[in-house]
Amino acid sequence: MSVSNNMPNRIPFLDLITPHVELEQELTGVFRKALHTGGFIGGPMVEEFENAFASFCNTSHSIAISSGTDALRFAIMVSGVQPGDVVVTVPHTFIATTEAISQAGAFPEFVDIDERTYNMCAERLQEYLEQCKRDQSGKLISRRSGRPVTAVVPVHLYGQMVDMDAILALAQKYGLTVIEDACQAHGAEYFSRKQNRWMKAGSMGRAAAFSFYPGKNLGACGEAGAVTTSDPVLADKIKMLRDHGQAKKYYHDVEGYNGRLDAIQAGLLHAKLVHLAKWNAQRRERAAEYQRLFAAADEAVVLPFEPSWSRSVYHLYVIRVDDRDGLMNHLKKVGIGSGIHYPIPLHLQKAYARLKYRLGDLPVAEKAAAEIVSLPMFPQLTAEQQARVVEEVLRFSSKFIRKHADAEVASPVTADRTA
Ligand SMILES: Cc1ncc(COP(=O)(O)O)c(C=O)c1O
Repeated sequence: MSVSNNMPNRIPFLDLITPHVELEQELTGVFRKALHTGGFIGGPMVEEFENAFASFCNTSHSIAISSGTDALRFAIMVSGVQPGDVVVTVPHTFIATTEAISQAGAFPEFVDIDERTYNMCAERLQEYLEQCKRDQSGKLISRRSGRPVTAVVPVHLYGQMVDMDAILALAQKYGLTVIEDACQAHGAEYFSRKQNRWMKAGSMGRAAAFSFYPGKNLGACGEAGAVTTSDPVLADKIKMLRDHGQAKKYYHDVEGYNGRLDAIQAGLLHAKLVHLAKWNAQRRERAAEYQRLFAAADEAVVLPFEPSWSRSVYHLYVIRVDDRDGLMNHLKKVGIGSGIHYPIPLHLQKAYARLKYRLGDLPVAEKAAAEIVSLPMFPQLTAEQQARVVEEVLRFSSKFIRKHADAEVASPVTADRTA
């Protein structure tokens, strides 16, 4: 929820100005370089960013794409998913996750999330897979739609990793391809108990998609995305797909797309990538400060939970309260920005009425969607601003608790009277 600009002491939900003003020289230098070389599409600025981002993610390849949505679509298309297949994902994510699945010609089906991490729940995925049938050729068939199930897209939402060991083990058992939606998780890390080491988001699936939408931890000054993979064949296929299906100019092996990233955006991203580890560390510090400040609060506010195997990069700082809409209105009144990520789970969106899910099908996601609120979170957020955010959240929640406690005391009397 945005707040009015002319309010003194307003605290924005995110700050897209300060980091860009701080890097103004470097960023305008990128633009100047493009003007002076005429290198607007492809070329060294794109390749240098791709190499740097692959190395940041500990993958062999990164392929710069025009958006995160297209990155995910291309990753799904080249990973062996056929039109008509089912790709399993979560309902608690941005619609781009399922748009990419549909645009690849596949059908999304959903499994519920874990109520503490808000990410794909491995037990629910296991239940879903156990309910599938096998056809004569041994293909895994969805009990829900009768279609072949071939891939799973775990989403590292809010910057926190999915429990990937569990998902990868199930995928291996059932012969599924795993494509990570890492659009909100640049630099997040997962401790794989199986491999006994920390691993970066985007390095664990067959391929992964990242978004560089401006508000992301690494954001472009416009639209941008990337696929990461350590499979050179997949990388080449994606490069073709993003460029009209051509590996050589005007020799088209397949029909592709115009899904390239502008050289200017790649140059800007490269300049910002240098600062990403520092910005992520600052986000983690801000999250720790929120946890510390909220520690005095009662159970009316549910704080983000970080399992020991996850190092979240806190793209968003999401709490849960009983009266979410009331809290957001209060925050708006006192000049504090907040948001809901996301208010309606995908299985209940009008756009997916054709999939015939009903209210109650995925209860954990449904309950979360009704209670979550994202508080201001960005590297430049100050301790004073955080103290004010927490003070206002607690001021509102304690009023709410008092009101309800009073109502509880009052209600038996009312019941007596009407009896
Ligand atoms: C989880 C998730 N998936 C996919 C996307 C799509 O990325 P883009 O907006 O760059 O197309 C986003 C971006 O908001 C996202 O948050």
